[in-house]
Amino acid sequence: MSHLVKNYNRKKISFRSGKGSYLFASNGKKYLDFVQGIAVNSLGHAHPKLIKILSSQAKKLWHISNAFIIPEGEKFAKKLAQKTFADFVIFQNSGTEATETAIKIARRYFYSIGKPKKNRILCVKNSFHGRTLAAIYASGSKKMTEGFGPKVDGFDHFEFGDHKALKKSITSKTAAIMVETIMGEGGIKVIPDWCLKGLREICNKKNILLILDEVQCGIGRTGDFFAFEKSKVKPDIVPIAKGIGGGFPIGAVLMNKKVASGMTAGTHGSTFGGNPLAMAVGNTVLDIISKKNFLQNIKKNSKYFHDHLNKIKEKFPKIIKEVRGRGFLIGLQLHKDQTNFIKKLMQNRLLTIRASENVIRILPPLNVKKSELDEALKIINEVCSKY
Ligand SMILES: Cc1ncc(COP(=O)(O)O)c(C=O)c1O
Repeated sequence: MSHLVKNYNRKKISFRSGKGSYLFASNGKKYLDFVQGIAVNSLGHAHPKLIKILSSQAKKLWHISNAFIIPEGEKFAKKLAQKTFADFVIFQNSGTEATETAIKIARRYFYSIGKPKKNRILCVKNSFHGRTLAAIYASGSKKMTEGFGPKVDGFDHFEFGDHKALKKSITSKTAAIMVETIMGEGGIKVIPDWCLKGLREICNKKNILLILDEVQCGIGRTGDFFAFEKSKVKPDIVPIAKGIGGGFPIGAVLMNKKVASGMTAGTHGSTFGGNPLAMAVGNTVLDIISKKNFLQNIKKNSKYFHDHLNKIKEKFPKIIKEVRGRGFLIGLQLHKDQTNFIKKLMQNRLLTIRASENVIRILPPLNVKKSELDEALKIINEVCSKY
């Protein structure tokens, strides 16, 4: 009998070890892992450079406190600032802490300029920003909030793509618009570049901050470091997590100078956030992703993968409705419930994971080999042909 709380519907399988794109199960079988901890293991399992840095840092220093200077964190924040729109970074431990902190930063900014009533956050209905109380109420999803009342106030919602509702929901109290650049859990729905530009324009006009949640779609997953980069839009605040730690828990919020000005000493903190172990690993992940041609390869290989998935879709139009997403954040939308299809893929040794709207999420590591993509395509094709 398991003494773990039953808040997960776990698959009846466990794994002994992993290497790159593969997982080795306790039952002796080898699986192609295109879940990768839900876009977390950006460099696959057991990357030698990550093992090396983690082991070497573990011998030096695990944890101190943010009451002291942590040089690895200083270095990491500097690199992130040099690479992105951000001037400042605050480190956390997870995605939900990062989104929650993003909300705090937005509110605190308006408070600090004498507008404490400008504190509401406008979000997409049925989005996903994590599981803390504020984050579930930010999602505007009945499923996520049911039974967790009283309601955390301060969030307004509009339907994805409903521009009229978006404009109608903005009031003088709106402090920020917070959206996922690509909705992950919601079914791999990409906000088109022209919409991101439109959002930025509205925010500029109405003195509203733009928060782009890149927890799932950021850190190279789309072939750009951030998914919003293609649009040339500059957000004010960007929560990140998942891929930046390559499997080590790291969350962070990137922000511009303007909003960072509200976060004075004592306004926010974290015991574990920015600890030396996490920072050492994060620095190394960032160095690898920043290498010449790394992102270019993601673009090239993911295009190959998308093209072939689309060919499978054309061959089996009654099974696959749409191939969604960008780069290696991929959604295969089926016409019907995807549960059985995911099971069949797993029986054929390919691991994938569900998202809303009958979508199967396919999340290879960013350094996946072409031969591994071919292996996955073969399995998907086979499952379709027997479905
Ligand atoms: C877009 C987005 N934001 C926030 C989160 C929450 O991240 P975490 O599970 O690390 O708290 C997730 C997790 O899936 C996510 O996809």
